Amino acid sequence: MDDQANSDGIGFGVDIGGSGIKGARADLVAGDLASERHKILTPQPATPDAVVAVITEIVSTAGWTQPFGCTFPGIVRHGVLHSAANLDPAWIGVNLEQLASEATGVPVAALNDADAAGLAEARFGAAKGRDGVVIIVTLGTGIGTAVLVDGHLLPNSELGHLLMHGRSAEKYAAASVRQRKNLSWEQWGGRLQEYFSHLEFLFSPDVFIIGGGVSRKSEKFLPYIDVEAEIIPAELQNQAGIVGAAVVAAERFGATPPVG
Ligand code: BGC
Repeated sequence: MDDQANSDGIGFGVDIGGSGIKGARADLVAGDLASERHKILTPQPATPDAVVAVITEIVSTAGWTQPFGCTFPGIVRHGVLHSAANLDPAWIGVNLEQLASEATGVPVAALNDADAAGLAEARFGAAKGRDGVVIIVTLGTGIGTAVLVDGHLLPNSELGHLLMHGRSAEKYAAASVRQRKNLSWEQWGGRLQEYFSHLEFLFSPDVFIIGGGVSRKSEKFLPYIDVEAEIIPAELQNQAGIVGAAVVAAERFGATPPVG
């Protein structure tokens, strides 16, 4: 696919993570990827210039010349980053939309990674058609959350930073903690039980949706989590960030807007 003559209904999303930066075309109707994912390891240190250079490479290698969406693992308000727990602190105060747009020459819509995943699940996946309070929790390097009420997103909820045992919950219960500390599924499940009970007490959601790479293995840890809400794995898994970002950009800028 080297031109965008038939790009109706196709968008592009970039998903910035602590270990990899991924991008692909997304089918905005099916909620699926519409091209191979291009993944580049996150540069270390993950400074704004280094990360934006990777974004530019991913977008230009794909031959994409229209607006696109971009996730970030931190608080994103009106394009500006207000936290970067697992990336370089130099990002704080930086306008990702502006920087990425200047580098690529097209408009960019930026949003929190878990919010992008939540929107994608609401549009196409496990949260589709679900009214009431739905909380998507992504378990990865950190813990990301998206809070939806009747399909509407409350952005930047950051519930991975609720305090548990005197530190951020993500330092206690993220998937990376299980690996680093070599916890058994049962031990990690116990930590998740504490975390999800706490979330449930605070928000009384109807449904919890578990995202992040580990959601593919949900049968290994979901049996250890006992909450009143329904608790189910995400459906889009690793594609959710890319798809959600592409949807948000298409909605903000339109399918084929004038560029520049
Ligand atoms: C960040 C969140 C992000 C989550 C998952 C947390 O450390 O604060 O913004 O959504 O990690 O990447």
